[in-house]
Amino acid sequence: MTAAPPVPLRVALLGCGTVGSAVLRLIEDQADDLTARIGRPVEVVGIAVRRPAHHPDVPQHLLTTDAAALVARDDVDLVVEVIGGIEPARSLMYAAFASGKSVVSANKALLAEDGPALHAAAAEAGVDLYYEAAVAGAIPLLRPLRESLAGDQLRRVVGIVNGTTNYILSRMAETGAGFAEALAEATELGYAEADPTADVDGFDAAAKAAILASLAFHTPVSSADVYREGISAVSATDVARAAEIGCTVKLLAICERVPNGAGTDTVAVRVHPAMIPTTHPLAAVGGAFNAVFVEAEAAGQLMFYGQGAGGEPTASAVLGDLVAVARNRVAGASGQGPTGYADLAIRPMAETPTRYHVSLDVADRPGVLAAVAQEFARQDVSISTVRQTGRGDAATLVIVTHSAPDAALSATIAALRDMPAVRGVTSVLRVEGLS
Ligand code: HSE
Repeated sequence: MTAAPPVPLRVALLGCGTVGSAVLRLIEDQADDLTARIGRPVEVVGIAVRRPAHHPDVPQHLLTTDAAALVARDDVDLVVEVIGGIEPARSLMYAAFASGKSVVSANKALLAEDGPALHAAAAEAGVDLYYEAAVAGAIPLLRPLRESLAGDQLRRVVGIVNGTTNYILSRMAETGAGFAEALAEATELGYAEADPTADVDGFDAAAKAAILASLAFHTPVSSADVYREGISAVSATDVARAAEIGCTVKLLAICERVPNGAGTDTVAVRVHPAMIPTTHPLAAVGGAFNAVFVEAEAAGQLMFYGQGAGGEPTASAVLGDLVAVARNRVAGASGQGPTGYADLAIRPMAETPTRYHVSLDVADRPGVLAAVAQEFARQDVSISTVRQTGRGDAATLVIVTHSAPDAALSATIAALRDMPAVRGVTSVLRVEGLS
């Protein structure tokens, strides 16, 4: 007598765009391996899409426009959400948890907005919520932060987590092009979306930063807690000035523990363009690649690098999560979600220590440098280096500060713009990682 074949784990797939169709393909192509790795086969029993006619290549009998009914089906064990956006994804996730189904998601916007409440709902239902694909695509990052580094204390997580902006900034550095020209090229080649706002203005990176900071510091951090500046104001001059001091310009997501001086730490999370030394490992991350640099007390420095977008790379991360939650399901268990026990205060950007690189067109006459330096001193900002090029009417002062509260630095810039001897503030960028 032969044993009955194992009952499949039945998956509802919500969304079948670039990522969803790659997930479907990988589940089909790797069916035997998945069965061996999980202990039961995986079967997709329904695919929710908005326009079935747009999906001629998937089995038509699986398609439905009623995502809520698909999630509610008794024969569904696990839900994979790759629709993106806040609604209906959020309602569908809560419905999945309420009916005892684990969820795998790639939804950074939703997790960054509502992560703690979603985790609480999953924990209450005794199911899993995994979302490795939400940050930096294929790069295994959230599980290392959540599990591998669970015994360490993280100090800083600094990442290039948006491929579109990294492509644009890389091209600006390579060709000397301005932002608009590099964006046009990125759009033409498909690196930038027709509406590039989410990438270019830093919203995408800010959501990812919120997720990274929450995991790194065991503290709930939402997108609204993240200071955000995009790259549309980065000029060819900024990029050229960076090169002059051995730096390159990157859009960084920076999550750090900052002591508040009273014996407790705060968490500062920010996304903005910054100059970093070309010797920093993140400086070598070119094109549309992502990388995240982690500094931990015991582990020291770690770097995670790879493809942060695209159907197949993102689907790889989704499948990894699918295997994890499926194994838990087979074991009748659920994994430990992130903890927010530390609950550190969020430090406002104005109080966060940063360093600035400032380039000024000035009149080259006695007393100008002293007057410029006086504006820094007035805000208690210490200057690290000053360099002058040119003379007469074409003199340029390039100043790099030591670290100071960001508000003091921006107040200094405002004062410099009002000085009669300053003809123009031609470049202002924060600097990271410079000794
Ligand atoms: N649009 C993102 C990027 C990928 O350019 O990296 C998805 O988060």
